[in-house]
Amino acid sequence: MDIAGYVGNQHSGIVLYKNVWDKDANFIERLEDCIGDSTHEYFSWKESLVGDREKMPEYRDCWDFKLRQSDIPICDPAFEEAGEIYKEVIAGVRECVNHYCSLYNIQMEYEEATNFVKYDVGQHFNVHADHGFSYSATVSAIGYLNDGYEGGEYVLPYQDVKFTPEQGDVIVHPSTFVYAHQSLAVTKGRKYSAVTMYDYNDRNHQDHSPQQSKQALAQQVVEQFGGQVQSASS
Ligand SMILES: [Fe+2]
Repeated sequence: MDIAGYVGNQHSGIVLYKNVWDKDANFIERLEDCIGDSTHEYFSWKESLVGDREKMPEYRDCWDFKLRQSDIPICDPAFEEAGEIYKEVIAGVRECVNHYCSLYNIQMEYEEATNFVKYDVGQHFNVHADHGFSYSATVSAIGYLNDGYEGGEYVLPYQDVKFTPEQGDVIVHPSTFVYAHQSLAVTKGRKYSAVTMYDYNDRNHQDHSPQQSKQALAQQVVEQFGGQVQSASS
């Protein structure tokens, strides 16, 4: 990994790392061999959503696939190669983020799932901030997994930055609104990136859905009272 320095203003907090992975890592061919045509519930390319819920193609239209560290021990053996790719990709990203954190004396203890993103011709992601009303993040890391396409530049409009990525680049920057960014449409070929967000801790990343809350409460009761509690209906 080479530290290429700041992108734009030296005080901007946007740092570029180069040659993070070997040229022959061959992530794309391996990933497509593994999940390319898959219709598996998790191990497959999905039409990207906004905020994990809605399809908004005028805002974002691309394909994505997520993996996180806790998925690896329970990875479906048929998709083990995807887990291997994740491990190689995230090792490089972590090296960059650790260096980034050392520059600013911060510690990121929460790591979000890595989002592998695929943009075909015409696909893009409009201006957005990674930290906002629907999601919390402090540091964003974007890794570029291939060359051989045109368009797809990474733009941070409020930082006056338009960046043309190359394979092996990782760009790290704060996630908040002045670092809002967009991925311009690919005009030729296909672009792949791997996006991972970080936060100080998991405080803002708990799942508060009713089902989860019920399960958590049930687990808490079992832990506290063991076999003493029986369902009221039993
Ligand atoms: Fe983003």
